[in-house]
Amino acid sequence: MQDVISFIEANQQNYIEELKEFLKIPSISTLVENREDINRCANFVASKLKDAGMSRVEIFKTEGHPLVYGEWLGAPGKPTVLIYGHYDVQPVDPIELWDSPPFEPAIKDGKIFARGATDDKGQVFMHIKSVEAFFKVEGSLPLNVKFIIEGEEEIGSEHLELFINHNTDLLKCDTVLISDTALYEEGVPTITYGLRGLSYMEVEVTGPNRDLHSGTFGGAVGNPINVLSNMISKLQDKNGKIMIPHFYDDVLKLSKKENDNFKRLKFSEKKFAKELGVAELQGEKGFSSLERTWIRPTLDCNGIIGGFTGQGAKTVIPSKASAKISMRLVPNQDPAKIAREFTKYVKKIAPKSVKLKIKDLHSAYPVLISLNDASTVAGTKAMEKAFGKKIVFIREGGSVPIVTTFVKKLKVPTVLMGLGLNSENLHSPNEHFNLNHFRLGIMSSAYFLKEYSA
Ligand code: BES
Ligand code: MN
Ligand code: MN
Repeated sequence: MQDVISFIEANQQNYIEELKEFLKIPSISTLVENREDINRCANFVASKLKDAGMSRVEIFKTEGHPLVYGEWLGAPGKPTVLIYGHYDVQPVDPIELWDSPPFEPAIKDGKIFARGATDDKGQVFMHIKSVEAFFKVEGSLPLNVKFIIEGEEEIGSEHLELFINHNTDLLKCDTVLISDTALYEEGVPTITYGLRGLSYMEVEVTGPNRDLHSGTFGGAVGNPINVLSNMISKLQDKNGKIMIPHFYDDVLKLSKKENDNFKRLKFSEKKFAKELGVAELQGEKGFSSLERTWIRPTLDCNGIIGGFTGQGAKTVIPSKASAKISMRLVPNQDPAKIAREFTKYVKKIAPKSVKLKIKDLHSAYPVLISLNDASTVAGTKAMEKAFGKKIVFIREGGSVPIVTTFVKKLKVPTVLMGLGLNSENLHSPNEHFNLNHFRLGIMSSAYFLKEYSA
Protein backbone atom coordinates (compact mmCIF):
# COMPACT_ATOMS: atom_id res chain seq x y z
CA MET A 1 0.00 0.00 0.00
CA GLN A 2 2.86 2.36 0.83
CA ASP A 3 4.13 1.94 -2.75
CA VAL A 4 0.78 3.05 -4.12
CA ILE A 5 0.83 6.13 -1.89
CA SER A 6 4.41 6.98 -2.88
CA PHE A 7 3.50 6.56 -6.53
CA ILE A 8 0.60 8.98 -6.12
CA GLU A 9 2.88 11.44 -4.35
CA ALA A 10 5.47 11.23 -7.11
CA ASN A 11 2.98 11.76 -9.93
CA GLN A 12 1.22 14.91 -8.76
CA GLN A 13 2.57 17.07 -11.55
CA ASN A 14 1.34 14.67 -14.24
CA TYR A 15 -2.08 14.44 -12.60
CA ILE A 16 -2.41 18.21 -12.58
CA GLU A 17 -1.49 18.45 -16.27
CA GLU A 18 -4.12 15.83 -17.14
CA LEU A 19 -6.72 17.51 -14.97
CA LYS A 20 -6.12 20.72 -16.92
CA GLU A 21 -7.14 18.94 -20.14
CA PHE A 22 -10.37 17.80 -18.45
CA LEU A 23 -11.07 21.34 -17.24
CA LYS A 24 -10.56 22.86 -20.68
CA ILE A 25 -13.72 21.19 -22.00
CA PRO A 26 -16.73 23.51 -21.51
CA SER A 27 -19.19 20.77 -20.60
CA ILE A 28 -22.04 23.04 -19.49
CA SER A 29 -25.07 20.77 -19.28
CA THR A 30 -27.86 23.32 -19.30
CA LEU A 31 -26.90 25.13 -22.55
CA VAL A 32 -27.81 23.66 -25.94
CA GLU A 33 -24.80 25.28 -27.62
CA ASN A 34 -22.45 23.15 -25.50
CA ARG A 35 -23.91 19.84 -26.66
CA GLU A 36 -20.77 18.89 -28.63
CA ASP A 37 -18.54 19.79 -25.67
CA ILE A 38 -20.61 17.49 -23.50
CA ASN A 39 -19.99 14.62 -25.92
CA ARG A 40 -16.30 15.44 -26.11
CA CYS A 41 -16.11 15.46 -22.33
CA ALA A 42 -17.80 12.06 -22.07
CA ASN A 43 -15.21 10.72 -24.52
CA PHE A 44 -12.42 12.25 -22.46
CA VAL A 45 -13.65 10.56 -19.27
CA ALA A 46 -14.03 7.23 -21.08
CA SER A 47 -10.48 7.38 -22.44
CA LYS A 48 -9.09 8.23 -18.98
CA LEU A 49 -10.95 5.26 -17.47
CA LYS A 50 -9.47 3.01 -20.17
CA ASP A 51 -5.96 4.39 -19.60
CA ALA A 52 -6.40 3.91 -15.86
CA GLY A 53 -6.85 0.17 -16.42
CA MET A 54 -10.61 -0.44 -16.35
CA SER A 55 -11.32 -3.56 -18.39
CA ARG A 56 -14.66 -2.48 -19.81
CA VAL A 57 -15.51 1.10 -20.64
CA GLU A 58 -18.68 2.18 -22.35
CA ILE A 59 -20.45 5.39 -23.19
CA PHE A 60 -24.19 4.98 -22.87
CA LYS A 61 -26.25 7.40 -24.95
CA THR A 62 -29.43 8.66 -23.35
CA GLU A 63 -32.24 10.98 -24.39
CA GLY A 64 -30.12 13.58 -22.63
CA HIS A 65 -26.37 13.65 -22.09
CA PRO A 66 -24.22 10.50 -22.30
CA LEU A 67 -23.27 8.41 -19.28
CA VAL A 68 -19.76 7.04 -18.92
CA TYR A 69 -19.48 3.57 -17.43
CA GLY A 70 -16.35 1.67 -16.50
CA GLU A 71 -15.69 -1.57 -14.66
CA TRP A 72 -12.98 -3.88 -13.46
CA LEU A 73 -14.30 -7.02 -11.86
CA GLY A 74 -11.09 -8.97 -11.41
CA ALA A 75 -11.40 -9.58 -7.68
CA PRO A 76 -14.00 -12.34 -7.29
CA GLY A 77 -15.19 -12.77 -3.72
CA LYS A 78 -14.29 -9.18 -2.90
CA PRO A 79 -16.84 -6.39 -2.55
CA THR A 80 -17.75 -4.04 -5.40
CA VAL A 81 -17.68 -0.30 -5.08
CA LEU A 82 -19.53 1.95 -7.52
CA ILE A 83 -17.88 5.36 -7.89
CA TYR A 84 -20.24 8.12 -8.97
CA GLY A 85 -19.47 11.66 -10.10
CA HIS A 86 -20.38 14.20 -12.77
CA TYR A 87 -18.48 15.68 -15.70
CA ASP A 88 -21.01 18.43 -16.41
CA VAL A 89 -20.52 21.93 -15.07
CA GLN A 90 -22.53 25.06 -14.38
CA PRO A 91 -22.68 28.03 -16.76
CA VAL A 92 -19.94 30.64 -16.33
CA ASP A 93 -21.89 33.88 -16.17
CA PRO A 94 -21.15 36.56 -15.06
CA ILE A 95 -18.03 35.96 -17.16
CA GLU A 96 -16.60 39.45 -16.58
CA LEU A 97 -16.01 38.60 -12.93
CA TRP A 98 -13.52 35.80 -13.65
CA ASP A 99 -9.87 36.70 -13.09
CA SER A 100 -8.82 34.16 -15.72
CA PRO A 101 -10.98 32.53 -18.43
CA PRO A 102 -13.14 29.73 -16.96
CA PHE A 103 -11.96 27.11 -19.44
CA GLU A 104 -8.27 28.00 -19.38
CA PRO A 105 -7.14 26.41 -16.11
CA ALA A 106 -4.75 28.62 -14.14
CA ILE A 107 -2.76 27.73 -11.04
CA LYS A 108 -2.29 30.28 -8.27
CA ASP A 109 -1.34 29.81 -4.61
CA GLY A 110 -1.70 26.03 -4.77
CA LYS A 111 -5.19 26.20 -6.28
CA ILE A 112 -6.40 25.40 -9.77
CA PHE A 113 -8.93 27.87 -11.16
CA ALA A 114 -11.51 26.78 -13.77
CA ARG A 115 -15.22 26.04 -14.03
CA GLY A 116 -15.71 22.50 -12.71
CA ALA A 117 -12.40 22.44 -10.80
CA THR A 118 -14.03 21.51 -7.48
CA ASP A 119 -17.53 20.67 -8.78
CA ASP A 120 -16.95 18.01 -9.83
CA LYS A 121 -14.18 17.30 -12.35
CA GLY A 122 -11.29 17.64 -9.89
CA GLN A 123 -13.04 15.27 -7.50
CA VAL A 124 -13.96 12.72 -10.17
CA PHE A 125 -10.37 12.72 -11.36
CA MET A 126 -9.04 11.78 -7.90
CA HIS A 127 -10.72 8.39 -8.14
CA ILE A 128 -9.57 7.73 -11.68
CA LYS A 129 -5.99 8.41 -10.61
CA SER A 130 -6.17 6.28 -7.46
CA VAL A 131 -7.39 3.32 -9.48
CA GLU A 132 -4.66 3.92 -12.03
CA ALA A 133 -2.01 4.01 -9.29
CA PHE A 134 -3.08 0.54 -8.07
CA PHE A 135 -2.81 -0.91 -11.56
CA LYS A 136 0.56 0.70 -12.19
CA VAL A 137 2.06 -0.38 -8.86
CA GLU A 138 0.30 -3.63 -7.97
CA GLY A 139 -1.14 -4.70 -11.34
CA SER A 140 -4.63 -5.07 -9.88
CA LEU A 141 -7.22 -3.52 -7.56
CA PRO A 142 -7.93 -4.85 -4.05
CA LEU A 143 -11.65 -5.08 -4.89
CA ASN A 144 -14.08 -4.72 -7.80
CA VAL A 145 -14.68 -1.21 -9.08
CA LYS A 146 -17.39 0.30 -11.26
CA PHE A 147 -17.62 3.91 -12.36
CA ILE A 148 -20.71 5.81 -13.43
CA ILE A 149 -19.90 9.39 -14.40
CA GLU A 150 -22.84 11.44 -15.65
CA GLY A 151 -23.36 14.68 -17.56
CA GLU A 152 -26.64 15.90 -16.08
CA GLU A 153 -26.07 16.33 -12.36
CA GLU A 154 -26.38 20.09 -12.54
CA ILE A 155 -29.75 19.78 -14.27
CA GLY A 156 -31.33 17.11 -12.08
CA SER A 157 -29.92 13.72 -13.25
CA GLU A 158 -33.12 12.78 -15.07
CA HIS A 159 -31.59 10.29 -17.49
CA LEU A 160 -29.25 8.66 -15.01
CA GLU A 161 -32.29 7.96 -12.90
CA LEU A 162 -34.00 6.17 -15.81
CA PHE A 163 -30.76 4.35 -16.57
CA ILE A 164 -30.45 3.05 -13.02
CA ASN A 165 -34.04 1.82 -13.10
CA HIS A 166 -33.28 -0.25 -16.20
CA ASN A 167 -29.75 -1.35 -15.33
CA THR A 168 -29.77 -2.44 -11.72
CA ASP A 169 -27.76 -5.54 -12.64
CA LEU A 170 -25.04 -3.66 -14.45
CA LEU A 171 -24.69 -1.27 -11.52
CA LYS A 172 -24.99 -3.94 -8.84
CA CYS A 173 -22.54 -3.13 -6.04
CA ASP A 174 -22.04 -3.14 -2.28
CA THR A 175 -21.68 0.60 -1.81
CA VAL A 176 -21.56 3.86 -3.75
CA LEU A 177 -18.61 6.19 -3.23
CA ILE A 178 -19.16 9.85 -4.10
CA SER A 179 -16.84 12.84 -3.97
CA ASP A 180 -19.06 15.80 -4.74
CA THR A 181 -19.28 17.53 -1.37
CA ALA A 182 -17.05 19.69 0.79
CA LEU A 183 -14.65 19.37 3.70
CA TYR A 184 -15.75 21.10 6.87
CA GLU A 185 -12.59 23.19 6.80
CA GLU A 186 -9.30 23.27 4.97
CA GLY A 187 -7.21 20.22 5.90
CA VAL A 188 -9.96 18.56 7.95
CA PRO A 189 -11.02 15.07 6.82
CA THR A 190 -14.79 15.05 6.53
CA ILE A 191 -17.64 12.70 5.79
CA THR A 192 -21.01 14.16 4.90
CA TYR A 193 -24.02 12.21 6.13
CA GLY A 194 -26.86 14.53 5.15
CA LEU A 195 -27.86 16.41 2.01
CA ARG A 196 -30.79 18.69 1.47
CA GLY A 197 -33.33 17.99 -1.21
CA LEU A 198 -34.75 20.43 -3.71
CA SER A 199 -37.90 21.58 -5.37
CA TYR A 200 -37.21 24.03 -8.19
CA MET A 201 -40.17 25.97 -9.59
CA GLU A 202 -40.76 28.62 -12.20
CA VAL A 203 -43.61 31.09 -11.91
CA GLU A 204 -44.67 33.17 -14.89
CA VAL A 205 -47.12 36.01 -14.49
CA THR A 206 -48.86 37.55 -17.49
CA GLY A 207 -50.83 40.77 -17.27
CA PRO A 208 -51.93 42.87 -20.25
CA ASN A 209 -51.79 41.38 -23.76
CA ARG A 210 -48.75 43.53 -24.71
CA ASP A 211 -46.15 45.87 -23.21
CA LEU A 212 -47.76 49.20 -22.35
CA HIS A 213 -46.74 52.84 -22.00
CA SER A 214 -46.33 53.23 -18.26
CA GLY A 215 -47.77 56.76 -18.32
CA THR A 216 -50.83 56.15 -20.44
CA PHE A 217 -51.77 52.88 -18.71
CA GLY A 218 -49.81 52.94 -15.45
CA GLY A 219 -52.05 52.74 -12.41
CA ALA A 220 -54.93 51.14 -14.23
CA VAL A 221 -53.56 47.61 -14.85
CA GLY A 222 -51.72 45.09 -12.71
CA ASN A 223 -48.00 45.35 -13.48
CA PRO A 224 -46.71 41.75 -13.65
CA ILE A 225 -43.42 42.69 -11.99
CA ASN A 226 -45.17 44.42 -9.09
CA VAL A 227 -47.65 41.57 -8.78
CA LEU A 228 -44.94 38.91 -8.88
CA SER A 229 -42.72 40.61 -6.31
CA ASN A 230 -45.74 41.05 -4.09
CA MET A 231 -46.46 37.35 -4.37
CA ILE A 232 -42.83 36.47 -3.62
CA SER A 233 -42.97 38.58 -0.48
CA LYS A 234 -45.93 36.50 0.69
CA LEU A 235 -43.95 33.26 0.54
CA GLN A 236 -42.08 34.06 3.77
CA ASP A 237 -42.95 36.05 6.88
CA LYS A 238 -40.65 38.49 8.66
CA ASN A 239 -39.14 35.72 10.80
CA GLY A 240 -38.09 33.74 7.76
CA LYS A 241 -40.89 31.16 8.15
CA ILE A 242 -42.22 29.82 4.89
CA MET A 243 -45.93 30.54 4.58
CA ILE A 244 -46.93 27.66 2.30
CA PRO A 245 -49.49 25.52 4.16
CA HIS A 246 -48.19 22.08 5.23
CA PHE A 247 -44.66 23.05 4.23
CA TYR A 248 -43.14 21.99 7.57
CA ASP A 249 -45.39 18.96 8.18
CA ASP A 250 -42.71 16.32 7.57
CA VAL A 251 -39.58 18.12 8.81
CA LEU A 252 -37.49 15.98 11.16
CA LYS A 253 -36.27 17.57 14.39
CA LEU A 254 -32.59 17.55 15.25
CA SER A 255 -31.71 14.70 17.62
CA LYS A 256 -29.81 15.35 20.84
CA LYS A 257 -26.85 13.40 19.50
CA GLU A 258 -26.66 15.45 16.35
CA ASN A 259 -27.10 18.66 18.25
CA ASP A 260 -24.07 17.73 20.36
CA ASN A 261 -22.09 16.98 17.22
CA PHE A 262 -23.05 20.38 15.73
CA LYS A 263 -21.83 22.08 18.93
CA ARG A 264 -18.50 20.25 18.78
CA LEU A 265 -17.86 21.72 15.32
CA LYS A 266 -17.51 25.16 16.97
CA PHE A 267 -18.86 26.97 13.95
CA SER A 268 -18.04 30.68 13.98
CA GLU A 269 -20.98 32.83 12.81
CA LYS A 270 -18.67 35.85 12.86
CA LYS A 271 -16.08 34.34 10.56
CA PHE A 272 -18.84 33.08 8.27
CA ALA A 273 -20.38 36.57 7.93
CA LYS A 274 -17.00 38.15 7.39
CA GLU A 275 -16.04 35.68 4.66
CA LEU A 276 -19.30 36.48 2.85
CA GLY A 277 -18.87 40.23 3.22
CA VAL A 278 -22.19 40.78 5.00
CA ALA A 279 -22.71 42.99 8.07
CA GLU A 280 -25.26 40.57 9.49
CA LEU A 281 -26.44 37.07 8.77
CA GLN A 282 -30.12 36.49 8.10
CA GLY A 283 -32.39 33.48 8.22
CA GLU A 284 -35.12 31.63 10.03
CA LYS A 285 -35.46 33.05 13.53
CA GLY A 286 -34.31 30.83 16.38
CA PHE A 287 -31.78 28.78 14.41
CA SER A 288 -28.00 28.91 13.97
CA SER A 289 -26.40 29.13 10.54
CA LEU A 290 -25.46 25.45 10.61
CA GLU A 291 -29.07 24.58 11.40
CA ARG A 292 -30.38 27.00 8.79
CA THR A 293 -28.27 25.44 6.05
CA TRP A 294 -28.23 21.79 7.15
CA ILE A 295 -31.48 20.85 8.85
CA ARG A 296 -34.03 23.54 7.99
CA PRO A 297 -35.84 23.90 4.68
CA THR A 298 -35.59 27.22 2.83
CA LEU A 299 -37.10 29.15 -0.04
CA ASP A 300 -35.05 31.36 -2.34
CA CYS A 301 -35.60 33.31 -5.50
CA ASN A 302 -32.81 32.30 -7.91
CA GLY A 303 -33.64 34.74 -10.67
CA ILE A 304 -36.29 37.17 -11.70
CA ILE A 305 -36.93 38.34 -15.20
CA GLY A 306 -39.19 41.01 -16.58
CA GLY A 307 -39.48 44.38 -18.26
CA PHE A 308 -36.72 46.65 -19.39
CA THR A 309 -33.26 45.82 -18.07
CA GLY A 310 -31.10 47.56 -20.68
CA GLN A 311 -29.14 50.78 -20.26
CA GLY A 312 -30.88 53.99 -19.30
CA ALA A 313 -34.61 54.32 -18.82
CA LYS A 314 -37.60 53.06 -20.75
CA THR A 315 -41.07 53.77 -19.42
CA VAL A 316 -42.91 50.51 -19.81
CA ILE A 317 -45.28 48.15 -18.09
CA PRO A 318 -44.26 44.72 -19.29
CA SER A 319 -46.77 42.13 -20.29
CA LYS A 320 -44.91 39.36 -18.47
CA ALA A 321 -42.61 38.66 -15.54
CA SER A 322 -41.23 35.42 -14.22
CA ALA A 323 -39.22 34.09 -11.33
CA LYS A 324 -37.25 30.94 -10.63
CA ILE A 325 -37.81 29.84 -7.07
CA SER A 326 -36.14 26.96 -5.30
CA MET A 327 -36.89 25.31 -2.01
CA ARG A 328 -34.21 23.32 -0.22
CA LEU A 329 -35.78 20.41 1.58
CA VAL A 330 -34.76 18.33 4.57
CA PRO A 331 -35.59 14.81 5.75
CA ASN A 332 -38.45 13.69 5.47
CA GLN A 333 -39.93 16.25 3.10
CA ASP A 334 -41.13 14.96 -0.26
CA PRO A 335 -40.32 17.21 -3.25
CA ALA A 336 -43.46 16.18 -5.16
CA LYS A 337 -45.69 17.05 -2.23
CA ILE A 338 -43.87 20.35 -1.69
CA ALA A 339 -44.24 21.27 -5.38
CA ARG A 340 -47.99 20.59 -5.12
CA GLU A 341 -48.40 22.72 -2.00
CA PHE A 342 -46.32 25.50 -3.55
CA THR A 343 -48.48 25.51 -6.67
CA LYS A 344 -51.69 25.57 -4.66
CA TYR A 345 -50.52 28.45 -2.49
CA VAL A 346 -49.15 30.55 -5.37
CA LYS A 347 -52.47 30.16 -7.22
CA LYS A 348 -54.25 31.27 -4.10
CA ILE A 349 -52.23 34.45 -3.58
CA ALA A 350 -52.26 35.53 -7.25
CA PRO A 351 -54.68 38.39 -8.01
CA LYS A 352 -57.28 37.94 -10.76
CA SER A 353 -55.54 40.67 -12.80
CA VAL A 354 -52.87 38.22 -13.99
CA LYS A 355 -52.63 34.78 -15.58
CA LEU A 356 -50.26 32.25 -14.03
CA LYS A 357 -48.04 29.53 -15.42
CA ILE A 358 -46.25 27.37 -12.87
CA LYS A 359 -43.62 24.83 -13.87
CA ASP A 360 -41.87 22.18 -11.80
CA LEU A 361 -38.31 22.33 -13.23
CA HIS A 362 -36.63 19.65 -11.17
CA SER A 363 -36.35 18.11 -7.77
CA ALA A 364 -34.23 16.05 -5.42
CA TYR A 365 -34.95 14.07 -2.28
CA PRO A 366 -33.14 14.95 0.93
CA VAL A 367 -30.64 12.37 2.21
CA LEU A 368 -29.63 11.11 5.63
CA ILE A 369 -26.97 8.41 5.84
CA SER A 370 -26.26 6.03 8.73
CA LEU A 371 -22.75 6.30 10.13
CA ASN A 372 -22.55 2.63 11.10
CA ASP A 373 -22.23 1.11 7.68
CA ALA A 374 -19.00 -0.70 6.71
CA SER A 375 -18.35 1.72 3.86
CA THR A 376 -18.62 4.76 6.13
CA VAL A 377 -16.21 3.09 8.53
CA ALA A 378 -13.81 2.44 5.64
CA GLY A 379 -14.21 6.03 4.43
CA THR A 380 -13.44 7.33 7.91
CA LYS A 381 -10.28 5.24 8.25
CA ALA A 382 -9.18 6.14 4.71
CA MET A 383 -9.49 9.88 5.18
CA GLU A 384 -7.90 9.79 8.63
CA LYS A 385 -4.90 7.95 7.17
CA ALA A 386 -4.51 10.32 4.24
CA PHE A 387 -4.87 13.49 6.31
CA GLY A 388 -3.29 12.24 9.55
CA LYS A 389 -6.17 13.82 11.48
CA LYS A 390 -9.43 12.84 13.08
CA ILE A 391 -12.56 12.79 10.92
CA VAL A 392 -15.53 15.13 11.39
CA PHE A 393 -19.07 14.30 10.33
CA ILE A 394 -21.19 17.02 8.81
CA ARG A 395 -24.40 17.62 6.92
CA GLU A 396 -24.60 19.74 3.80
CA GLY A 397 -27.05 22.30 2.44
CA GLY A 398 -26.64 21.39 -1.22
CA SER A 399 -28.15 18.47 -3.10
CA VAL A 400 -26.92 15.53 -5.13
CA PRO A 401 -30.19 14.33 -6.67
CA ILE A 402 -29.18 10.80 -7.61
CA VAL A 403 -28.13 9.64 -4.13
CA THR A 404 -31.67 8.67 -3.16
CA THR A 405 -32.04 6.62 -6.34
CA PHE A 406 -28.88 4.66 -5.53
CA VAL A 407 -30.17 3.93 -2.05
CA LYS A 408 -33.69 2.99 -3.19
CA LYS A 409 -32.98 1.14 -6.43
CA LEU A 410 -29.61 -0.48 -5.79
CA LYS A 411 -30.46 -0.93 -2.09
CA VAL A 412 -26.94 -0.05 -0.97
CA PRO A 413 -25.43 2.59 1.30
CA THR A 414 -23.48 5.58 -0.01
CA VAL A 415 -20.37 7.33 1.31
CA LEU A 416 -19.98 11.05 0.69
CA MET A 417 -16.25 11.61 0.78
CA GLY A 418 -16.00 15.10 -0.70
CA LEU A 419 -12.77 17.07 -0.93
CA GLY A 420 -14.10 20.47 -1.98
CA LEU A 421 -14.50 23.55 0.14
CA ASN A 422 -17.61 25.71 0.25
CA SER A 423 -15.32 28.71 -0.21
CA GLU A 424 -14.14 27.40 -3.59
CA ASN A 425 -16.75 29.36 -5.54
CA LEU A 426 -18.64 26.47 -7.02
CA HIS A 427 -21.41 27.76 -9.32
CA SER A 428 -19.85 31.22 -9.23
CA PRO A 429 -16.92 33.10 -10.82
CA ASN A 430 -13.35 31.98 -10.03
CA GLU A 431 -14.24 28.43 -9.10
CA HIS A 432 -11.12 26.62 -7.89
CA PHE A 433 -9.87 23.46 -6.22
CA ASN A 434 -7.16 23.23 -3.58
CA LEU A 435 -4.39 21.09 -5.07
CA ASN A 436 -3.34 19.79 -1.68
CA HIS A 437 -6.88 18.47 -1.23
CA PHE A 438 -6.67 16.99 -4.73
CA ARG A 439 -3.55 15.09 -3.63
CA LEU A 440 -5.07 14.02 -0.31
CA GLY A 441 -8.23 13.01 -2.16
CA ILE A 442 -6.36 10.63 -4.46
CA MET A 443 -4.76 9.09 -1.39
CA SER A 444 -8.06 8.91 0.47
CA SER A 445 -9.57 7.14 -2.51
CA ALA A 446 -6.69 4.64 -2.62
CA TYR A 447 -6.93 3.99 1.13
CA PHE A 448 -10.69 3.55 0.76
CA LEU A 449 -10.33 0.83 -1.88
CA LYS A 450 -7.88 -0.96 0.41
CA GLU A 451 -9.89 -0.53 3.63
CA TYR A 452 -13.19 -1.52 2.08
CA SER A 453 -11.71 -4.61 0.44
CA ALA A 454 -10.89 -6.05 3.87
N1 BES B 1 -21.76 19.23 -5.75
C1 BES B 1 -22.96 19.99 -5.68
C2 BES B 1 -23.71 19.80 -4.37
C3 BES B 1 -22.93 20.38 -3.23
C4 BES B 1 -22.72 21.72 -3.14
C5 BES B 1 -22.38 19.57 -2.28
C6 BES B 1 -21.96 22.25 -2.12
C7 BES B 1 -21.62 20.08 -1.28
C8 BES B 1 -21.39 21.43 -1.20
C9 BES B 1 -23.82 19.59 -6.86
O1 BES B 1 -23.11 19.58 -8.06
C10 BES B 1 -24.90 20.60 -7.04
O2 BES B 1 -24.60 21.73 -7.31
N2 BES B 1 -26.15 20.16 -6.95
C11 BES B 1 -27.24 20.97 -7.31
C12 BES B 1 -28.36 20.04 -7.66
C13 BES B 1 -29.47 20.65 -8.43
C14 BES B 1 -29.03 21.36 -9.65
C15 BES B 1 -30.50 19.61 -8.78
C16 BES B 1 -27.60 21.88 -6.17
O3 BES B 1 -27.43 21.53 -4.98
O4 BES B 1 -28.04 23.00 -6.45
MN1 MN C 1 -21.38 18.58 -7.91
MN1 MN D 1 -22.92 21.73 -8.73
